[in-house]
Amino acid sequence: MSRTYLITGASSGIGAQFARSYARRGNNLILVARRLDRLEALAAELRAAHGVEITCLDADLGDRAQVNSLLARIKEMNLRPDGLINNAGYSLAHTFTTTTAKQQLDFIEVCVAAPTLLAHGLLNDMLGQGFGRIINVSSMVAFSPGASGHTLYPAAKAYMLKFSRSLAAEVGAKGIHVTALCPGSTESEFQHANGMDAVLKTHPARFVQTAEAVVEAAIRANEAGREVIVTGLFNQIAVAAMTLLPDGLITPLIRWGAKKYQLKE
Ligand SMILES: NC(=O)c1ccc[n+]([C@@H]2O[C@H](COP(=O)([O-])OP(=O)(O)OC[C@H]3O[C@@H](n4cnc5c(N)ncnc54)[C@H](OP(=O)(O)O)[C@@H]3O)[C@@H](O)[C@H]2O)c1
Repeated sequence: MSRTYLITGASSGIGAQFARSYARRGNNLILVARRLDRLEALAAELRAAHGVEITCLDADLGDRAQVNSLLARIKEMNLRPDGLINNAGYSLAHTFTTTTAKQQLDFIEVCVAAPTLLAHGLLNDMLGQGFGRIINVSSMVAFSPGASGHTLYPAAKAYMLKFSRSLAAEVGAKGIHVTALCPGSTESEFQHANGMDAVLKTHPARFVQTAEAVVEAAIRANEAGREVIVTGLFNQIAVAAMTLLPDGLITPLIRWGAKKYQLKE
């Protein structure tokens, strides 16, 4: 049966792959991002390949009014999403005091407030029909002790993890599957968007997954009703280490490893 999935941040990377993977399964899509031209190009490609219905909506999720107007547009157009993929996100690679307070609050709007508002705005219809799918894109850093640079990123991703688990506890028995997706390094435009491209080029080889591997694992986990998926064996071992090893051992190790992974002031 064909369903409708709303995907935020579908203009590149993991979000664009969610669009490809759900369209390939014959589902209709609502694609959201700021770069409407990119969404329209992807939609044209996927309509031609899979014959699915796709609506593209531009919204800056850093602007609370635009998130509310996005929900209003979805209602007016009677699009009724069966699934929500809260994927849009980025990181601020500098340290806390070398960014402005507005930059940090905008980050919270995109990575914390918008996913919360979208889930709140769409869940009642999902509950009414006794079917719903929510994937909140977190990260393996949700399990990390935090390091210098990207200051709020682990906090925001831990929020997505805990939010997903509480929501799953509330609605999981009512036909709604809620999953926190926790990838590690994934091929996308993330490192370009946060300005870390050049820094990472000087790094030794890292374990990087394709967006397709990450998304296919996420969809399988969500369909199976799993609350949390850490993708890739390397990342699963790293998360096990972060959760099982004593804090006194893992915290200095993570902070040493993350030293280069920030932009100098
Ligand atoms: N790549 C990784 O290594 C990795 C690892 C773990 C978790 N993640 C998470 O995966 C998710 C997707 O990131 P990605 O790796 O696919 O990065 P990406 O290629 O840079 O994609 C980010 C997406 O978010 C959208 N976005 C950013 N700011 C937005 C805003 N203000 N309003 C609306 N949309 C906005 C962008 O669209 P527009 O610019 O067109 O608006 C873009 O489509 C993020 O939540 C990220 O934290 C990534």
